[in-house]
Amino acid sequence: MRSLLHPLRGGGLAVALATLVTTGFGLLAAGTAPAHAQGSTLNQLAQAHGRYFGSATDNSELNDSAYTAVLGSEFGSITPGNSMKWDTTEPSQGQFNFSGGDAIVQFAQAHNQQVRGHNLVWHSQLPSWVSSLPSSQVQAAMENHITKEAGHYKGEVYAWDVVNEPFNDDGTYRTDAFYNAMGKDYIADALRTAHAADPGAKLYINDYNIDGTGAKADAMYQLASDLKKQGVPLDGIGFQGHLAVQYSFPSNMQQNLQRFADLGLDVAFTELDVRMELPADSAKLAAQADYYRQVTDACLAVTRCVGITVWDFDDKYSWVPSTFSGQGAADLYDENLQTKPAYTAVQTALGGGGGTDTTPPSAPSGLAVSGTTSSSVSLKWSASTDDVGVTGYDVYRGSTKVGSTTSTSYTDSGLSASTTYSYTVKAKDAAGNVSAASGAVTATTAASGGGTPGTGAVKVQYKNNDSAPTDNQIKPGLRVVNTGSDPVDLSKVTIRYYFTGDGGSSTFNAWCDYAAVGCSNVTQKVVALSSPKSGADHYVEVGFTSGAGTLAAGANTGDIQNRISKSDWSNFSESDDYSYATNTAYADATKVTVYVNGTLASGIEP
Ligand code: XIL
Repeated sequence: MRSLLHPLRGGGLAVALATLVTTGFGLLAAGTAPAHAQGSTLNQLAQAHGRYFGSATDNSELNDSAYTAVLGSEFGSITPGNSMKWDTTEPSQGQFNFSGGDAIVQFAQAHNQQVRGHNLVWHSQLPSWVSSLPSSQVQAAMENHITKEAGHYKGEVYAWDVVNEPFNDDGTYRTDAFYNAMGKDYIADALRTAHAADPGAKLYINDYNIDGTGAKADAMYQLASDLKKQGVPLDGIGFQGHLAVQYSFPSNMQQNLQRFADLGLDVAFTELDVRMELPADSAKLAAQADYYRQVTDACLAVTRCVGITVWDFDDKYSWVPSTFSGQGAADLYDENLQTKPAYTAVQTALGGGGGTDTTPPSAPSGLAVSGTTSSSVSLKWSASTDDVGVTGYDVYRGSTKVGSTTSTSYTDSGLSASTTYSYTVKAKDAAGNVSAASGAVTATTAASGGGTPGTGAVKVQYKNNDSAPTDNQIKPGLRVVNTGSDPVDLSKVTIRYYFTGDGGSSTFNAWCDYAAVGCSNVTQKVVALSSPKSGADHYVEVGFTSGAGTLAAGANTGDIQNRISKSDWSNFSESDDYSYATNTAYADATKVTVYVNGTLASGIEP
């Protein structure tokens, strides 16, 4: 076959120049975005950054002219989805068939594209004759397969995925025919054999679930660094990039790519797609766009990230639906070859699309607590709007980002019991613009093993009027706040402050020292808990007579100064009392409870 020079080596410049000339960019230094990128293809945009943008394809798809029109123009690299795999190229030992792969190479050459060869050694799509060989014959069969196939395509593929998917997800080696026969040394042997057959091809190890940091990426890193130290001809690591919106985006992607690059290796996304549970909807498509954008950004941020290949570009020919039941819509174009938000996101990330979107979404509104447990807080809010489209929300606890979601609700878990947290939410769009923060909302987790806080329209605030926690009196200052939008009849409201009697008499006196609503309108009584709790065997219940009137929306009762003693005036030990706190100015008190008509409105019972 006609020899195609290697793009990004000598011949790549010729290919790149040809494309640049036809699009009129002039010659651009790597890392420089074109000034007028509108109308450029993804590959032209990528080339302006010194990268390629490619797609997988398959032989049957080459008969679809609408499809090949896009394949041949939009992409600068193609990878055969199946026709260079072992079960196609050497279905029986020594019987080689390269016709499918040759057709793909021909298409590439006709469209000025480079080819990524995929793949030489893989546990899957491996004909059964290989796995049935006695282990003493596997090495020779592997070396022969590599020599014949890489030899056949010598000079015609830019890179080879020499070894595909050598690891299990936990980072241990996959025990396939090759590993069982040769141990991990089969990898070095395969690379050396491929190098001998085609010294000009970039040689890769390729795998999935190594896109972010984790055990599997660590294992790949260890292997790559060992191989480099040993002088094995390894040029790059392929990150397949089979992502899904229902899983979180891989962690630390850019840093992960960078550490491989720092070993002196090229890195590339080789099989990018972002699947979702069907049916697709606008939120999932927006999240997908954001994932594609993040991958593109990560590659552009790492100098040695040489390119991105999508594992086919349209949903019509995606491998996802037949592999992941109920999932699909993973590609840049839909089944009718219409571009999706993901396409625009990649285009924008590459600096194209007629200018960058710099308008952030509106701030989320109506942030509210929809539930709490002793270890979690659930939030909901109203959707933001954006000139292009909201892709998701980041949830902040204080100033810490605790999570992201594409929906308008979120549950923050792993929290401490009986603790008050403050939350805000920000909206994002596909270009990475972030909105202003929503209004803050506070939420208090339930006591561990205790009740859940009330969600009524009043709350209680407390201050400690007693600087002597071991004397013979307890002096809580209390006031009720109407947090709702209607007036509250105070005669229906009661407050409970919980304490322990601490020995001595079990007869108590409680009274009012001062109340803004008048002590004559306030009642106190001490009640013993039928089942004492830690820090609480009694509570003082503060109530109101009808003379206290109503509490307007937003108003509070003002100061109510209470005092409790025992009939024998023996001392208390207040510091471990359930409701005790040391603040001397009024503050929300989750361990003092307030009731309307006997129903818990706010606070947490012990
Ligand atoms: C897939 C092909 O796209 C399908 O057509 C085929 O049925 C199965 O293999 N990781 C790889 C690719 O390295 O070779 C796989 O391709 C997708 C997962």
